[in-house]
Amino acid sequence: QKETTVLTIKNTANAPTINKNIYGHFAEHLGRCIYGGFFVGDTSKIPNTAGVRNDIIDALKKLKIPNLRWPGGCFADTYHWKDGIGPRENRPTIVNRWWGGTTEDNSFGTHDFLNLCETLGAEPYLSGNVGSGTVQELADWVQYANFGGKSPMSDLRKKNGRTEPWKVKFWGIGNEAWGCGGNMTADYYVGEYRKFATFMSDWENTGGLTRIASGSNSADYNWTETLMKDIPLNMLGGVGVHHYAVIDWAKKGDGVDYTEFEYFQTMKSALKMEELVTKHSAIMDKYDPEKKVAMIVDEWGAWYEVEKGTNPGFLYQQNTMRDAVLAGSTLNIFNNHADRVRMANLAQCVNVLQAVILTDKAKMILTPTYYVMQLYSVHQDAQQLPISIKSPLYTFNGESLPALMASASKDKKGLTHISLVNVDSKKENTVEIDLNELGIKSVTGMIIGSSKLQDFNSFDNPTKIQPVTFKGFDVKKGKLTVNIPPFSVIMLEGK
Ligand code: AHR
Repeated sequence: QKETTVLTIKNTANAPTINKNIYGHFAEHLGRCIYGGFFVGDTSKIPNTAGVRNDIIDALKKLKIPNLRWPGGCFADTYHWKDGIGPRENRPTIVNRWWGGTTEDNSFGTHDFLNLCETLGAEPYLSGNVGSGTVQELADWVQYANFGGKSPMSDLRKKNGRTEPWKVKFWGIGNEAWGCGGNMTADYYVGEYRKFATFMSDWENTGGLTRIASGSNSADYNWTETLMKDIPLNMLGGVGVHHYAVIDWAKKGDGVDYTEFEYFQTMKSALKMEELVTKHSAIMDKYDPEKKVAMIVDEWGAWYEVEKGTNPGFLYQQNTMRDAVLAGSTLNIFNNHADRVRMANLAQCVNVLQAVILTDKAKMILTPTYYVMQLYSVHQDAQQLPISIKSPLYTFNGESLPALMASASKDKKGLTHISLVNVDSKKENTVEIDLNELGIKSVTGMIIGSSKLQDFNSFDNPTKIQPVTFKGFDVKKGKLTVNIPPFSVIMLEGK
């Protein structure tokens, strides 16, 4: 007799919209993310638009990428944006002190990034330099990007070939201020934040800047408490949270060659996101019951040892079915907390950490995580449908995790989408959903799965893992029964 779990989905119009920005990405000057990833330069033989690879542009457009965070990460607090504008031959170099100590020529700068975002139809999210920059420098960056009238910075922008402002809405005020952003205490950072935020003018036409505070390191709840307590809410658009799924920072394990123990530990760390978002939300609710300030999980994803033989500072790792399960589970958590989580950025977009795209010279592949993001793009700006589930357990070595992670939404066309993840590496799990309650008559499905947990897309076999049609369900008397294979991600569409 098969055990069946009941998944209840509430058909209500009172739930929040799932902000499309939850499906955001992050591109840092780190390893081969920008240079040798996105940016090959306009003299490259690889087809490109203003130096950015066309295959990457196409792939990200298909993903409906809603926003892109740049230039860091830790790099942001060393970056001086004025070094990356004007004629390339005049730009100074910068040594990337955090990531491999490489010398960069600043050939990818503000214009390149903001024009790329326009091409992608994505909102830019600029991370300002607080750690080693000045208030004036960040205020000038806002004026350069956003001011339409005559001013020193808009004149400079025009001189550099761009007449209209880009109207950048999302601005980070430092990054990881508790660590690489300056090793500040929460109290000290609050003072810095208030000062920097004051001089970042809204100018006109942006509909208001969203100023984002550098958030806590995982479970540092005191950090969030201090920010919420001591920053006037009208200066605070968002509060960041960073959380990486890591087995052990001293022994992170291989991205491909891993045991079930390592899989379990990675998922344990990843699923902690539920607790983190819940507890940080509770603190934010205390100071902001109307939920005006967004929680922005602007760095999340899996962090393993770098691929053997690659530069340890470049954070290049492969991406297997483990990453697909991790991405699907995490996105379900964000969807279910859409009342407060209104932006998130997977780290990182190309060739770094849990990338959606990997490149090797002219070749490009899409990872299992890419396909999860693609399947889940139907949740973007859809109305959340609250779920409740008493998940069966995935048990290993005496420890347990919830085996089923789910979320649901209804889009503007009236289609219902249910995303289901089976975290269990061995056991199929079955759920039952009442369709009458949802007014659904017919269901179709797609699945991302593979025969082995460690399977991945390689440059020799780039399409091993892709979404395929899913038929492992049955509808009888208005009840949908779904058999979810081990370590798989499913998207059901009901109408
Ligand atoms: O994403 C890699 C690094 O992780 C970022 O630069 C930093 O913010 C975080 O510690």
